[in-house]
Amino acid sequence: MSRILDIFTKDALEAARANNTYRSMRLMETPESSCVKIRMPDGASQEQILLASNSYLDLANVDELKQAMAQAVLEWGTGSGGARLTTGNKSPHQELEEFIAKFKGEESAITFNTGYMANVGTISALCGKNDFIFSDELNHASIIDGIRLSRAKCFVYKHNDMADLQRVIQEADKSRAESALPAPRKLIVTDAVFSMDGDLANLPELLRIAHESECLLMIDEAHATGVLGKTGRGLAEHYGCAHVDVTVGTLSKAVAAEGGFVAGPKQLTEFLKNKSRSFIFTTAMAPAVAAAACNNLRYIDAHPERVQNLRDNVKFFCDALQREGVNVELSPSAIVPIVIGDEAKAMQISAKLQEQGILIPAIRYPTVAKGQARLRASLMATHTHEQLQTAASIIAQAVKEGV
Ligand SMILES: Cc1ncc(COP(=O)(O)O)c(C=O)c1O
Repeated sequence: MSRILDIFTKDALEAARANNTYRSMRLMETPESSCVKIRMPDGASQEQILLASNSYLDLANVDELKQAMAQAVLEWGTGSGGARLTTGNKSPHQELEEFIAKFKGEESAITFNTGYMANVGTISALCGKNDFIFSDELNHASIIDGIRLSRAKCFVYKHNDMADLQRVIQEADKSRAESALPAPRKLIVTDAVFSMDGDLANLPELLRIAHESECLLMIDEAHATGVLGKTGRGLAEHYGCAHVDVTVGTLSKAVAAEGGFVAGPKQLTEFLKNKSRSFIFTTAMAPAVAAAACNNLRYIDAHPERVQNLRDNVKFFCDALQREGVNVELSPSAIVPIVIGDEAKAMQISAKLQEQGILIPAIRYPTVAKGQARLRASLMATHTHEQLQTAASIIAQAVKEGV
């Protein structure tokens, strides 16, 4: 290694260790499901109740879905071999996009290789340097990176604070009226479910404000698809209200495959095919992955009871934690944050829980604000009440003891 690289990387890693933000990966020895085996620091395998997965409906390890994906590999091979606009666009990609559009009740859909790429590529295609973007302060990193890439002027509003959103829109309108620049395109963008807090964007109010202030409205349904609404269609189904201009989602969480999507009017998806760099300049996802995502989405469509089981589990778990004296609210999503505050303490509690067979990671700065470290519990449709009660009692004990 060169001296410059050595010094630079060592300094960065030492700083991360010193402020408790050093990250390392845990090795999982079994597929993603509600109960898993992990490699412990002493090298032994240990069974854990998994309360940390984004595979909310627990579809990653379902026999019929695995077999369908294996069949798609046999039929379509291991890779796509080209970008979507060259040779990569295969029948499974098209079928997936048609099904997403139907599932989301939109005219059309376009897929990306990840949800991250969907956000980055959509925001940077829709807005340029003379435009305005209004962004919730707790939006996901992929939204923030999309905004940076667009070079638009970004106005961050306080989390879920609709009065503050209106304030920053007025401020932005005033600044442009006083300048010689042309009228900007204006985009409000928000997570549908906030990934570290589990709370929901206020869609009815956002729709009203977007309409009144002539802004486009974009929501990121990464943690909403398959989770919110009676049948898992997402935030609009949850509130029973109109759809937004641009709906982004991921196929990697409740859908338990890989990829991201944008659903909306056909003209929007055609625009993105022509203008979105993270769609154009990359090899298409493997056709078997597209087929798996489509099969899994069809499965969700045919099994709304999974979505209901997930809701029931969230309620059971939050009630159990409250009975045990842990300070949590009933989460409207599958994410239940247990805020600890101090980074080192959150890490210690998470390690202690792991020793006792409960896997909940500590989430720290920079993923959440400094001093807001938390255990981020996420529920699955298949957890049993017995597992959840056991977990709630052990968590309560660890939080009380502070280690
Ligand atoms: C809110 C949100 N948006 C987008 C993403 C990115 O999705 P993907 O994992 O498919 O890249 C994530 C998480 O990874 C997320 O939490």
